[in-house]
Amino acid sequence: MSILEKFVTMDYGPAPEDPREAIAWLDHHHRRFGHFINGAFQAPLEAKYFDTADPSATEKLADIAQGSAADVDVAVKAARSALPAWQALTPHARARYLYALARQIQKHSRRLAVLETLDNGKPIRESRDIDIPLVARHFYHHAGWAQLLTQEFPGQEPCGVVGQIIPWNFPLLMLAWKIAPALATGNTVVLKPAEFTPLTALAFAEICQEIDLPLGVVNIVTGDGTTGEALVAHPDVDKIAFTGSTEVGRAIRKATASSHKKLSLELGGKSPFIIFEDADLDSAVEGLVDGIWFNQGQVCCAGSRLLMQESIAEPLIAKICDRMNTLRIGPPLDKSIDIGAIIARVQLDRIQRLVDQGVAEGATCWQPNIPMPSRGLYFPPTLLSNVHPTSIVAQQEIFGPVLAAMTFRTPSEAVELANNTVYGLAASVWSESINVSLHVASQIKAGVVWVNCTNLFDASCGFGGYRESGYGREGGREGLQEYLEPSWFKHAPQLHARPQAIDQPPQQIPESAADSSTPPIDRTVKLFINGKQARPDSGYTIPVHASDGRLVGEAPAGNRKDIRNAVEAARKATAWPKSTAHTRAQVLYYLAENLSQRRDEIASRLSDVVGKTQAHEEVPLSIERIFTYAAWADKYEGTIHNPPFRNVTLAMQEPIGTIGILCPQEAPLLGFVSTVMPAIAVGNTVVAIPSELYPLITADLYQLFESSDLPAGTVNIVTGRAHELLKTLAEHDDVDALWCLADARTCATAKALSTGNLKQVFTNEARQIDWFNSQQAEGRFFLQHATQIKNIWVPYGE
Ligand code: NAI
Repeated sequence: MSILEKFVTMDYGPAPEDPREAIAWLDHHHRRFGHFINGAFQAPLEAKYFDTADPSATEKLADIAQGSAADVDVAVKAARSALPAWQALTPHARARYLYALARQIQKHSRRLAVLETLDNGKPIRESRDIDIPLVARHFYHHAGWAQLLTQEFPGQEPCGVVGQIIPWNFPLLMLAWKIAPALATGNTVVLKPAEFTPLTALAFAEICQEIDLPLGVVNIVTGDGTTGEALVAHPDVDKIAFTGSTEVGRAIRKATASSHKKLSLELGGKSPFIIFEDADLDSAVEGLVDGIWFNQGQVCCAGSRLLMQESIAEPLIAKICDRMNTLRIGPPLDKSIDIGAIIARVQLDRIQRLVDQGVAEGATCWQPNIPMPSRGLYFPPTLLSNVHPTSIVAQQEIFGPVLAAMTFRTPSEAVELANNTVYGLAASVWSESINVSLHVASQIKAGVVWVNCTNLFDASCGFGGYRESGYGREGGREGLQEYLEPSWFKHAPQLHARPQAIDQPPQQIPESAADSSTPPIDRTVKLFINGKQARPDSGYTIPVHASDGRLVGEAPAGNRKDIRNAVEAARKATAWPKSTAHTRAQVLYYLAENLSQRRDEIASRLSDVVGKTQAHEEVPLSIERIFTYAAWADKYEGTIHNPPFRNVTLAMQEPIGTIGILCPQEAPLLGFVSTVMPAIAVGNTVVAIPSELYPLITADLYQLFESSDLPAGTVNIVTGRAHELLKTLAEHDDVDALWCLADARTCATAKALSTGNLKQVFTNEARQIDWFNSQQAEGRFFLQHATQIKNIWVPYGE
């Protein structure tokens, strides 16, 4: 046999990783683990345990404590009492702890990789070469942020005690993504690993002991969803960070609605993998292997929808099938295995069910004829072609090694198909044309877009979703923001609900006012929808009274239908989001100029309700604030991250879309300007509900908008009973974000009703914002909530 023949026929021999050290570690703990609380392992208070198993052999590995609400309470108390001392450390001291964690993880890297593979079923090649190195990198990178914290984030404070809930697909990596930024910013944590994969979190707990991390800074409570629920519900937790299914993300949003817990959600996805005809097809196919068969496809950002340009579909499918024929599926501890085991029987059944449904809906199923292991939980790599874009396999997250393939003809059709999902986590775009790939990347609604690459992650780059893939980012500067709050905001006094002006019975007009020469009703305003003044659908108006009880006018009583019309107009107003930042700045300057010309008349009307002094402060400050956002319009820029690959990662600030805004009551003009201007400065369109105290300001505002070149539909104003209008906005699936600057009850309603499309909700958490203080009421704090960051990974070099 010639060398060439040998080379071609050569098969892989077994290359098993030795698991003895990991097994010895399990035995050392007598294969039974309590919770890690206040620096020590503690038996669960209710003495309940559950099994964790190796899915490749379906063998039990250890008994794991089932956390009760009482266990969670003990852990939260430990985190709370550790907080002052942890925060009192210098940034440098905290940096040293994070650095020590990184070093210790590296020292134990092989054992951690083997444990991860045993507990999760992922190939050792992945846990050894991807998961664990990224874990160490995350702690190193965040040791750096801990060091720079006060210089880089002046005026910010940690949230406090953070509850973190993670899934089973990247157990230790998700732990690192959660714990590293939380500790770097001075928080203490209670983390709940997934019930299927708790072992590496417990090994990490031991590492915390080894480096003498102060007691109570990291606490780990194991258990199932009920343990997670208890952590979410605990009243002394300041922030919840969750990664997992969209369904549980929704439940958590609801459960935290009436609290002031800060929330970040990293949820599911159905990410497109788009291949254009000019792509390097062999590279694209290799990318696809990583895109959908990495971690058995159990990846939130898996490229599970293949979109192929029609002209290359046939040869591409042939190449994909050829490559699938060479994939090796089997015991994950074998170093030459590509595809390991599925996490659990329930997940395996779910994958099969969804594939069957897809086939029943007309898809063609192809699986390679490769050897399958005789025991354990395995699902073969699967290609579904002829998939209709509305099929369940094109719409639902399968979370398994299943690729659904579709075709497109033009770049705009590719974008349309790519965005035809409720999710928005990631996308991969393959084309040798930089123009095509970046143009497509900019139009895809997803938090991460990989150009000619896929599934790349780094601690310096933000990761997180658009739409129902959640909100908040993990990694990089943007990820730290999730664990910090401006000090003034954190300590702002509570805002108490004002008696609602419009709910008061009409008051008697005082003699003096009745005698006055001013007519009692001087104006009736309209709604402002799609650039036009509109009568309310209800045909009713609401009386507006001056502070002395005089009737000063009537405002339309908007209803659900008016809100729906306004949302439709905002949605269709594409001119504004597409306009350049320079143009937006010009329009805002023009608005300020026009307001300046009418300052006296507006102030005199406003003074009827808020008094002369406030009115004469509100108007000039509003002009100044519009100037501020005109200035920001072309300066609120993204950044470029430097991951340790031949890549640049462009972190772009993008508008969220259509934002519903319940403007603050207390400053009718200034409050409107302070909220609506940052939203539109960065390219959003808005449906605003103005202050109930003085909704008549709407007439002045639309006259300004009409005379300032603001495209129709950019800002829409609906007056009426704010609480009711807010409900419609919160429930509307075409509203992408909701801002609610109001009292506790209204903020809770906004959050609770926003779960349909998981819109991002920004509230004042019922705290007072001093709208007259520009340190509080303008700038990045608002702009951050008006934008979402898209990380576009662009490789360079041959
Ligand atoms: P899941 O969302 O139920 O579980 C994730 C974590 O949340 C686990 O630690 C779990 O114990 C906890 N949890 C469950 N219910 C909870 C509740 N009510 N309150 C607080 N915490 C709770 O995800 P699961 O069941 O493990 O997987 C189901 C599907 O979710 C998968 O098929 C996949 O589609 C998706 N998923 C997405 C992930 C992602 O990274 N985006 C990760 C894991 C699952």
